[in-house]
Amino acid sequence: MDRIDRMEQGSEMSKFDALRAYHAKVRDRRILSLFAGNDGGRAANFTVRADGLIFDYSKTNIDEVALGMLLSLAETSGVAVKREAMFAGEKINDTEGRAVLHTALRADDDAVIRVDGRDVMPAVRATRARMAAFAADVREGRFRGQGGKITDVVNIGIGGSDLGPAMGTLALAPYHDGPRLHYVSNVDGAHVHDVLRGLNPETTLVIVASKTFTTIETMTNADTARGWMAGKVANPAAQFVALSSATGRTAAFGIDEERVFGFEDWVGGRYSLWGPIGLGLMLAVGPEAFGMFLGGARSMDRHFRTAPFMSNLPVLLALVGVWHNQVCGHATRAVLPYEQRLVRLPAYLQQLEMESNGKRVSMDGADLPYDSGPVVWGEPGTNGQHAFYQLIHQGTRVIPCEFLVGREGFEPELAHQHRLLVANCLAQSEALLRGRSLEEATALMAKAGLTGAELDRQARHRVFPGNRPSTTLGYPKLTPYVLGQIIALYEHRVFVEGVILGINSFDQWGVELGKELALALQPMLEGKAGTEGKDGSTAQLVAWARG
Ligand code: F6P
Repeated sequence: MDRIDRMEQGSEMSKFDALRAYHAKVRDRRILSLFAGNDGGRAANFTVRADGLIFDYSKTNIDEVALGMLLSLAETSGVAVKREAMFAGEKINDTEGRAVLHTALRADDDAVIRVDGRDVMPAVRATRARMAAFAADVREGRFRGQGGKITDVVNIGIGGSDLGPAMGTLALAPYHDGPRLHYVSNVDGAHVHDVLRGLNPETTLVIVASKTFTTIETMTNADTARGWMAGKVANPAAQFVALSSATGRTAAFGIDEERVFGFEDWVGGRYSLWGPIGLGLMLAVGPEAFGMFLGGARSMDRHFRTAPFMSNLPVLLALVGVWHNQVCGHATRAVLPYEQRLVRLPAYLQQLEMESNGKRVSMDGADLPYDSGPVVWGEPGTNGQHAFYQLIHQGTRVIPCEFLVGREGFEPELAHQHRLLVANCLAQSEALLRGRSLEEATALMAKAGLTGAELDRQARHRVFPGNRPSTTLGYPKLTPYVLGQIIALYEHRVFVEGVILGINSFDQWGVELGKELALALQPMLEGKAGTEGKDGSTAQLVAWARG
């Protein structure tokens, strides 16, 4: 019997049953009613403030009872024990036999963190110092290309070796005072072609960012970039840098070990921005600002480890997520930063959350008797308002929304635009909460002169059901420190959700099958192998692609 059958027969038992039963009792009430008559107490009670951040989850249907149940779910799921196991370097990624220690990359200078009895921190600190020295050399013109000072840096990587530094470079644009940064990820030759077309090979530094140094997209693009440089500079390899765990392979590619920045297998790809994979960001904003970015994450680590669950930001974000996804059954979540510079945050979070918590079996290999993590998607506001918010407000599905907004922008001369941005953000969560009733819509249409059946018909199109949940994460200003806090917050949120779901958030076997099949299909597309054994559709498409 598969999961759907078990659900239909009502025989599925899960740790979410009690919460689902409670939700069934309260699902029809208006969230707005929770605010009534308590003098703003709800807003204060369902808001957490920590180190400059504010997280308001009062515009959800979570009440005191649901919160209590969610908090005890976190307790009984063993979040605290697993959290300490992660920070202590235990091998909690047990399908790959690895520790999960991206937090070591931003740990205090005097931290001691052991894996297999060996303190990993001296190597972490040494690599960070080498990165900082190299970044300073490039930025200050001591490391030069074969045609002079480095003007452009091309980071070639994909997934975690691209999304983090690419997202961070855009986010911290006001701090960008180093060479221009370009990110190439897609194996589509159009990507590398369009990026390299405008650049001078004599003053371009190429970073090959790949934990494994085998990823086909990255290695193919790296070959293309090397070919682009060859013939135009005497020694292309001298303008290449490698960021990888596989130092043997970087040598085979011809990159001198002094320009190889290594990291260990306990840094997962999607958690790797804090170490060598962050070199592009460090080159852009400088080692000092990068250090502040690490500082923000370190502060979030401390908060996560020490704050009681009821005021613990990652725990609460995770519990709100579990409430909406596993309890209420809302399959997707919109991430809506009211911050243009966070334009790549939704894409970054898609990898972080969906590669981590998109799993169908629990740690022991049994089928998961409930849904895994949600589909995460989004776009910055206000752009999204003129695209997909229609569905969020009036579509038939409920989409919990996660707003992010800074109190202050970076352009004092455009402060009025920032106020307009914030007003839009607050307006959206208010509209989702409040909606517009049929009576209100009818009154508006009557005022516009409509009467009779046409009044009724037009009014119905203008009804907003409201009662749609949202949360708001506010921060003072998008500084490197704040960006570090936000990214670490999301990392730990994913961790807590994963522990509650009982899954391994740190492997990604689901990406392997497609990679294997693509390797097998390539010779078929070149006509070097037949399509025997392929399904009819794939064989037909191969024939079509061969022309
Ligand atoms: O898509 C799978 C994946 O392994 C990601 O987890 C990773 O971030 C990406 O590929 C890139 O891997 P690498 O850094 O080894 O090139």
